[in-house]
Amino acid sequence: MRIIQANDYEHMSELAANYLIDKVQTNPAIVLGLATGGTPLGTYKRLIKDYEQNGTSYKKVTTYNLDEYVGFSPENPNSYHTFMYDNLFEKVDIPTTNVHLPSGTALDLVEECKGYEERIEEAGGIDVQLLGMGSNGHIGFNEPGTSFQATTQIVELAQSTREANARFFDDIKEVPYQAITMGIATIMKSKEILLLVSGESKNDAMKKLMEGEVDESFPASVLNKHSHVTIIADKEALSGVSVR
Ligand code: PGA
Repeated sequence: MRIIQANDYEHMSELAANYLIDKVQTNPAIVLGLATGGTPLGTYKRLIKDYEQNGTSYKKVTTYNLDEYVGFSPENPNSYHTFMYDNLFEKVDIPTTNVHLPSGTALDLVEECKGYEERIEEAGGIDVQLLGMGSNGHIGFNEPGTSFQATTQIVELAQSTREANARFFDDIKEVPYQAITMGIATIMKSKEILLLVSGESKNDAMKKLMEGEVDESFPASVLNKHSHVTIIADKEALSGVSVR
């Protein structure tokens, strides 16, 4: 795993955006795996700014998001559909037909998981997967204990995840208990992974990740087994971590 050290959140976001912009310019028909949450927001802001100022085009780009809350329709203001359209898709020239998120309201969720996996395969797989990491080490919504063999699946959210995400809701009672997420095996099939880590709250997780021990009790540890991972992390996240 290659680690790029950033000074702070803004610097991390700038480095991540530059990394992705370079990928899109080099391969305009790239397949990107995208993430939601606080971590990638600054990166998306910079992709939009670059699109407006330099015209980097997303017309041929295809995207697959990691996850969605079960029971939330695309119109729900707290759905990840809404998050992605508000914070990126509506602001660049990507055709909506190229945008994919799992459906949290499919009548048959098991079939939806299977179909999502197949659609990624049909697109030729994900070229670059952007990831954040939960303070408990989750990637996507794959909480500690998730099998590394799992493909797209329905998962129960950890209480710590519901608490962390409650900041986006009026009340924690509104935070769903389940999500549909790409599995660890789906994520690991990406040709390349870009993991962003920011802030003191992720410091313990960052330390654990860098210990190098691979175990299902800490989902992100699986990334130690992927051959092409770049981590961009800021000083707070890296505090006390010896970067080799
Ligand atoms: P965050 O979430 O970016 O909002 O910290 C990361 C994650 O839970 O994967």
